[in-house]
Amino acid sequence: MKFRRVSRLAGEIAVPGDKSISHRAVMFGALANGTTEITNFLQGADCLSTIACFEKLGIAIENTPERILVHGKGLHGLTAPYDILDTGNSGTTTRLMAGILSGQKFESILNGDASIQSRPMKRILDPLAQMGADIVSVKGNGCAPLHINGNRFCQNCMPISMEAQRELAKAEHNFLHGIHYTSPVASAQVKSCVLLAGLYADGATSVTEPQLSRDHTERMLKGFGADIRSEGTTATIQPDPVLQGMKIEVPGDISSAAYFIAAALLVPGSEVLIKNVGINPTRDGILRVVKDMGGDITVLNKKTSGGEPTADLLVKYSDLHGVTIGGDIIPALIDELPVLAVLACAASGTTVIKDAQELKVKESNRIDTVVENLTAMGACAEAAEDGMIIEGGHPLSGAVIQSHKDHRIAMSFAVAALAADGGTEILDADCVNISYPNFYETLRSLCDR
Ligand code: S3P
Repeated sequence: MKFRRVSRLAGEIAVPGDKSISHRAVMFGALANGTTEITNFLQGADCLSTIACFEKLGIAIENTPERILVHGKGLHGLTAPYDILDTGNSGTTTRLMAGILSGQKFESILNGDASIQSRPMKRILDPLAQMGADIVSVKGNGCAPLHINGNRFCQNCMPISMEAQRELAKAEHNFLHGIHYTSPVASAQVKSCVLLAGLYADGATSVTEPQLSRDHTERMLKGFGADIRSEGTTATIQPDPVLQGMKIEVPGDISSAAYFIAAALLVPGSEVLIKNVGINPTRDGILRVVKDMGGDITVLNKKTSGGEPTADLLVKYSDLHGVTIGGDIIPALIDELPVLAVLACAASGTTVIKDAQELKVKESNRIDTVVENLTAMGACAEAAEDGMIIEGGHPLSGAVIQSHKDHRIAMSFAVAALAADGGTEILDADCVNISYPNFYETLRSLCDR
């Protein structure tokens, strides 16, 4: 896909539903009794992978453009899948489902695309093993495919029929143990995986993280009726709740809004209103950082929707200056760091991104892929062990961008291209389907040439 400089961006948009919240709404709806109705669900490839996995686990899901209906079967209602569960490109699907499946009394296999097969799963295998789960990395490399054997009652008489597995699944007995887990990484996927396994444990399960990661699991599970409490960076869940289906209106995804925030700040004369964006304090790091950089961003019309705070964001072109981004704020903007790096190129002075080694294990190694592409565009960017250093004020020029099939890299550099001299071409640009199928159309709608 080809891009060129634009004179300004102007107008009003709404971004699609939040990816993290959309995944969880389907998952928890499947484990609840009765029907869960989801509106503003993100119809991106990652969330569709979650739907397909739960359909293979026996859950009926109606997907229409207006709403999703998940016909939940209760905590013990999933049935053995006839096939491998394909999680596509989605880390959230893989890790959260690993927690749920570890508590089921049947066998399952989780696998995804090449990126998923190289992302670290030891971070969930360790706590799940401590809980007594039988889950292994099939190739022994700490990555997917993951084999989960919940079929403990019949380990000496394998193989058993699917029907027999289904009968065993009905047995009311939790074989996982409640643990207190101190996670070495601030990761909502790890935290959620362990808490979800905790639904099937014999006692309370808690997770303490080094910094607070996004808390959508805690908020939404509470809404479904789970006994889950948070104190500081520790979340504790009690097993065997009766979850009740509910209505969920998914707020707009701040991670998707980030590209338009950045584009409006970057292109002179721009003014963009982004409606109905989730501003959960565990996700709003980008707002705090762009304000620190001197960005003109106004938070309007604050509301709460389904236990999550939302607002409209009015963003105007601004003269920016470099900042240091590190410490406790990192989990609150981890997915926005690629586009913040692009923004840093237009800021005066130096921007330092540190404490962000997690960038290396995302859909691509985002320290390398950001620095590689910024350098191709003529920016002054240097990779570090835990982030990157960007010297602002070097004008960007058009280049061929390697997206590495990473949706956030493609979208970040589409933004960079709008302020660059000369044309830019983004390879594998359709990877934006993972989280934002209409991204290019929405971007084009704001560009006044
Ligand atoms: C997510 C958590 C984050 C984030 C990812 C979505 C989630 O990952 O990067 O895009 O939905 O829980 P980690 O929890 O691994 O940091």
